[in-house]
Amino acid sequence: MSEAYPIIEHKYDVVVVGAGGAGLRATMGMAQAGLKTAAVTKVFPTRSHTVAAQGGISASLGNMGEDNWQWHMYDTVKGSDWLGDQDAIEYMCREAPAAVLELEQFGMPFSRTEEGKIYQRAFGGMTTQFGEGPAAQRTCAAADRTGHAMLHTLYSQSLKYDTDFYIEYFALDLIMDKDGACKGVLCLCLEDGTLHLFRSHMVVLATGGFGRAYFSCTSAHTCTGDGGGMVLRAGLPLQDMEFTQFHPTGIYGAGCLITEGVRGEGGYLVNGEGERFMERYAPSAKDLASRDVVSRSMTMEIREGRGVGGRKDHIYLHLDHLDQAMIEERLPGISESARIFAGVDVNKEPIPVIPTVHYNMGGIPTNYHGEVVDLKDGNPDAVVPGLMAVGEAACVSVHGANRLGSNSLIDLVVFGRAAALRAKDIIKSGEAHSPLAADACDESLGRLDKFRNAKGGQSTAQIRDKMQRVMQDDCAVFRTGESLQAGVTKINEVEKQMTDIATTDRSLVWNSDLVETLELDNLIRQAVVSMTAAENRKESRGAHAREDFPDRDDENWMKHTLTYHTDAGGVKLDYRPVHDYTLTDEIDYIKPKARVY
Ligand code: FUM
Repeated sequence: MSEAYPIIEHKYDVVVVGAGGAGLRATMGMAQAGLKTAAVTKVFPTRSHTVAAQGGISASLGNMGEDNWQWHMYDTVKGSDWLGDQDAIEYMCREAPAAVLELEQFGMPFSRTEEGKIYQRAFGGMTTQFGEGPAAQRTCAAADRTGHAMLHTLYSQSLKYDTDFYIEYFALDLIMDKDGACKGVLCLCLEDGTLHLFRSHMVVLATGGFGRAYFSCTSAHTCTGDGGGMVLRAGLPLQDMEFTQFHPTGIYGAGCLITEGVRGEGGYLVNGEGERFMERYAPSAKDLASRDVVSRSMTMEIREGRGVGGRKDHIYLHLDHLDQAMIEERLPGISESARIFAGVDVNKEPIPVIPTVHYNMGGIPTNYHGEVVDLKDGNPDAVVPGLMAVGEAACVSVHGANRLGSNSLIDLVVFGRAAALRAKDIIKSGEAHSPLAADACDESLGRLDKFRNAKGGQSTAQIRDKMQRVMQDDCAVFRTGESLQAGVTKINEVEKQMTDIATTDRSLVWNSDLVETLELDNLIRQAVVSMTAAENRKESRGAHAREDFPDRDDENWMKHTLTYHTDAGGVKLDYRPVHDYTLTDEIDYIKPKARVY
């Protein structure tokens, strides 16, 4: 196979795949640690999806009122519906203030208070006094373009280091040895069609989420879960794939994000009867309850005939009562999005919104050092040598069954840095690479060749559309056994149709037809394991709301789901325990209780 597809080999200590917030922070840290590092990315770094993050990055700086990392940790554990690993959550919340101050020192243009401190706004589920006090203002913001500011800051900083960027290279597959260690990654250069094998002592997957498995999502078209697809093909599991976050306020019809920061600044949701219905569902936190709670409440209003619009199928988000100067200063981006995508002047009219797929809590299982883990010989935390994952691609698990808004950006930088600290400890720079079997890349090249020459009866777009509609219909905000069983049958059927796919461009140069097909191959595997995991989990927890099992069941389901995608197209399920311990004695294990806001 490698005769038809000659391969150019590169040797590095570390190769980071993906150059969004997590990938860039990991890349910088690796270079700082003296490791020879390559960053491989399918889009130009500043086009990564981190750019779209709006409302902010959480850290208990206490600039706008009393705060501490223990309260942040409590909120995150509660937000996760107790599925998050408490050692990892402690690590993230402790490290968060330093991580944000580091970004400030890098030159990130945060919004400022009168005294010149970093501006912090309220966000859903963020409270004080271990949930007993008022809302915390913990989300550090650069107006409503925080991700944009952060990504550009990290990219400009990363250029200071001696790192090689391979831009517009698409990662095809991990190269694993017979003992299950990762030895590198095979990539396709999109510009000229050449194939590149990046040998490394560590591959770090920072490839983002797979929101595009759904029909309507806030994710960029590039969010195709390429790391997750590679991991499944390598015979490794993904974790907690049943937990998909619906952001309450995607623009109706367009799907674009309207930040939770709108509600943090005083905006509120209203039903078709003009009622602020969140007061009924979450009497204390109201519109700032956590996302799963708000999305479910909106869906209930719509289902019970209290939606807005001709079809009564969405909800209004009001900010027309807020000060116009404040909106101009702190919410300029969403004002523009509302004008362009909903035809609305936010100073005069409400924005039509609907819960929209936003984030994957599930992903590649890792420990809090970013090392990928799997079950081995009875050890649920066995490290997969040579492989790390960070950012949305990973499941650390700090978000458990439901992520709190603004805990994503902090996850990116805290664990991007943590991965580099670990790599510094375990990699000896310049160490020789072990030889690979002559056929090490053949399977991956075979897959590439198969899709490049596919002559079936359906286009990539047709099969992708079927997948997205099944996920949208049957793996939704509310789920039932019936819809999930039907969903499993339907999504397996769509996966089978991958053998009937047709591509038309046979070249290797800027072949977007081929790349979209490879992306679909990554997406469909993750759609299949997500639907299967959702059907399997017979309880409601966080974003996984089963109408046939409406309660959380800690006795039977306080555990992470592992899903392996088998060669025959099936799914093998297993479990890992939730880490019910903390890292230090500065905080005790936070015991499960009823989750009310
Ligand atoms: O609503 C938002 O600004 C989104 C933030 C997040 O997902 O963390």
